[in-house]
Parts: sequence; structure tokens; C-alpha cells
Amino acid sequence: MRIPGKLLFLAGMLAALGVGWVGFPLAIYKSRPQPVDFSHKVHAEKAGSSCEDCHAFRADGTFSGIPTLDKCAGCHAAPMGATVVEKKFIEQYVTPNREPQWASYARQPENVYFSHITHVKAAQLKCEQCHGDQKSNDKPRLYQEDRISGYSRDIWGRPSSRVPLRTEGGMTMGDCVACHRERGLEHSCLDCHK
Ligand code: HEC
Ligand code: HEC
Ligand code: HEC
Ligand code: HEC
Ligand code: HEC
Repeated sequence: MRIPGKLLFLAGMLAALGVGWVGFPLAIYKSRPQPVDFSHKVHAEKAGSSCEDCHAFRADGTFSGIPTLDKCAGCHAAPMGATVVEKKFIEQYVTPNREPQWASYARQPENVYFSHITHVKAAQLKCEQCHGDQKSNDKPRLYQEDRISGYSRDIWGRPSSRVPLRTEGGMTMGDCVACHRERGLEHSCLDCHK
């Protein structure tokens, strides 16, 4: 049987696209797991913690971001439960007083200015609107970093594929501008860039 040239070309092209679709992200992003399998769900449900208990605004209005070990050590000096994850966390970090090196999915390039207090307090936006649902997150997902720029995939990599891998907004310049436009806000380049 003779396969028409056009069909062969099409098949070849689809195969190449497939390889690129899967292979390209593997080649440009390096992945690493978070240091501890921290569960937002467990802390919301069993410890009854609110987001602000760990992600507080300081007196001067700056945002504290990811909490440091001293926040955890108050409760975890001794085990609160019987899980292996907690035992490992205490042995590797709490007892030796070693700070976990958390990777931040949302961290922006140095030249971007972003303020939590204006978005959370003045604009009354919910954390989920930008970060997605954390309360039911039982384990941090793999952190992926662009090998060349060193940026998190969340702010750079997602839009190039246009695959809706996450349901929430995303953290690219396009996402910032889209929400601002929706609300009739226009910003100059220098409002967001230093
Ligand atoms: C208000 C007290 C409190 C604070 C503060 C706290 N935890 Fe916990 N943590 C708990 C409780 C309660 C559990 C559930 C224990 C159980 O029943 O297994 C838990 C469970 C855990 C576990 C076990 C894993 C799991 O999914 O069950 C890990 C790991 C952990 N915490 C890490 C941390 C880290 C890291 C911090 C600081 C960022 C922290 N905790 C802050 C109360 C706290
Ligand atoms: C017991 C402390 C604790 C509480 C309570 C807590 N968090 Fe976290 N949060 C952490 C730690 C530790 C990390 C870093 C590990 C990770 O990404 O899961 C983190 C990471 C995050 C991140 C990822 C930021 C980034 O880009 O890397 C977001 C968003 C977040 N928390 C939102 C929330 C929200 C919303 C709530 C309330 C529903 C909440 N957190 C409650 C400790 C806490
Ligand atoms: C308008 C969008 C938006 C909202 C609303 C928002 N965030 Fe963020 N968040 C961001 C951006 C953008 C960054 C990266 C900031 C940077 O790198 O300067 C970030 C970073 C973070 C980080 C990581 C900080 C670090 O050390 O890198 C945490 C934790 C976090 N946000 C938690 C929260 C919590 C908790 C709330 C709700 C109280 C919240 N965010 C509301 C956009 C948002
Ligand atoms: C509402 C905020 C906002 C405004 C306004 C804005 N930017 Fe951005 N820009 C961002 C964010 C956030 C990033 C990082 C994420 C990304 O690359 O999508 C970025 C990234 C960039 C980058 C890539 C930077 C890098 O490190 O690789 C360039 C170039 C840029 N912006 C230029 C501009 C110019 C020129 C304007 C004015 C026409 C502008 N931006 C207006 C938020 C903004
Ligand atoms: C879900 C909607 C939303 C998203 C996403 C969003 N913003 Fe905003 N932003 C607002 C609103 C609303 C205001 C007006 C706040 C006020 O009342 O002053 C604002 C104000 C600002 C301002 C001016 C006030 C200030 O803080 O100096 C800057 C700069 C800004 N945003 C940067 C960003 C950047 C950078 C991003 C993306 C990383 C972003 N925003 C994403 C809604 C959003």
C-alpha cells in the first residue's frame, strides 16, 4: 500500500509537535520538590490556623511572605501527631534549628514592584483570586524553574503553552494587566517596573 506523501508529512509533523509539546518543557524547566511536605489542609482543619497566622502583614504594612521556622517551632517542638512527615520535619529542621529553603511559586523578577497590602486591604481581593485554592492543598506541588532565567514557571512558563494547567489566574504581566483593565485601572510601565 502506498501512503500518500501529504499524509506522511502530516503524521511526521504531528509526531514532532508531540515531542516538542512534552519534551520542550522538560528541557527548559528544572524541577525540585519543596523541603517539607507541608499541608495547608491539615493546618486549616486540625490546627485551626487562619492564613494571617502564618502570612501576616507587619506593622509597617509590608507582607511577611512565607513564614520562618520560629512560627512552626512553637507548635512543633514536640510531635503534635504521629505522622512520618511531621517526625521527619522535626528531626531535619526543628531540632537542629535549620531553616527550610522554601521555593516561592509566585516570586516575581527583581524589576517588578508588587504590594500585597494594596491588593488585599485596599482592593479587598481574596488570596485565591491570584494564588488559587490553598486551604485544600495537602502537599506542595513540584516547583519548576526556568533553567535560563531562573524564574518560577508560574510567572513565565504557563502562558507560552496556553494549556489551562491551573484554574486560577496566573502571575504573568498579562494577568496583572487583564485584571487592572477589567477594573478600569491603567498603569504606566513604571508603576509596576523599577
Ligand atoms: C498552631 C500550631 C501549629 C503551627 C504554628 C504549625 N503547625 Fe504544623 N501541625 C499542627 C497540627 C495540629 C498538625 C497535625 C498533627 C497530626 O494530627 O498529625 C500539624 C502537622 C504538621 C506536619 C505533618 C504533616 C501533615 O501533613 O500532617 C508538618 C510537616 C507540619 N505540621 C509542618 C509545619 C510547618 C513547616 C510549620 C510552620 C510553617 C507548622 N507546621 C506550623 C500544628 C501547627
Ligand atoms: C502554619 C502556617 C501556614 C498557614 C496557616 C498558611 N500557610 Fe500558606 N504557606 C506556609 C508555608 C510553610 C508555605 C511554603 C510551602 C508551600 O508552598 O506550601 C506556604 C505557602 C503559601 C503560598 C505559596 C506562595 C508561593 O508563591 O510560593 C500561598 C499562596 C499561601 N501559602 C497561601 C495561604 C493561604 C491562602 C492560607 C490560608 C488558607 C495559608 N497560606 C495558610 C505556611 C502557612
Ligand atoms: C493581586 C494578586 C495577589 C493577591 C490577592 C495575593 N497575592 Fe500573594 N503574591 C502575589 C504576587 C504577584 C506575589 C509575588 C510577589 C513578589 O515576588 O514580589 C505573591 C507572593 C506571595 C507569597 C510568597 C512570598 C515570597 O516570599 O516569595 C505568599 C506566601 C503569598 N503571596 C500569600 C498570599 C496570601 C496569604 C494572600 C491573601 C491574604 C495573598 N498572597 C494575596 C499576588 C497576590
Ligand atoms: C500591572 C503591572 C505591569 C505593567 C503596567 C507593566 N508590566 Fe511589564 N511585567 C509585569 C510583570 C508582573 C512581569 C513579570 C512576569 C512576566 O514576565 O510576565 C513583567 C515583565 C516584563 C518584561 C520582561 C522582564 C524580564 O525580566 O524578562 C518586560 C520587558 C516588561 N514587563 C516591559 C513592560 C513595559 C514596556 C511596560 C509598559 C508598556 C510594562 N511592562 C508594564 C507587570 C507589569
Ligand atoms: C485580581 C485583580 C488584580 C490582579 C491579578 C493584579 N492587580 Fe494590581 N491592582 C488591582 C486593584 C483593584 C488595584 C487598585 C488598588 C487600590 O485600591 O489602590 C491594583 C493596584 C495596583 C498597583 C498600584 C497600587 C500600588 O500597589 O502601588 C500596582 C503597582 C499593581 N496593582 C501591580 C500589580 C502587579 C505587578 C500585578 C501582577 C503580578 C497585579 N497588580 C495583579 C487588582 C489586581
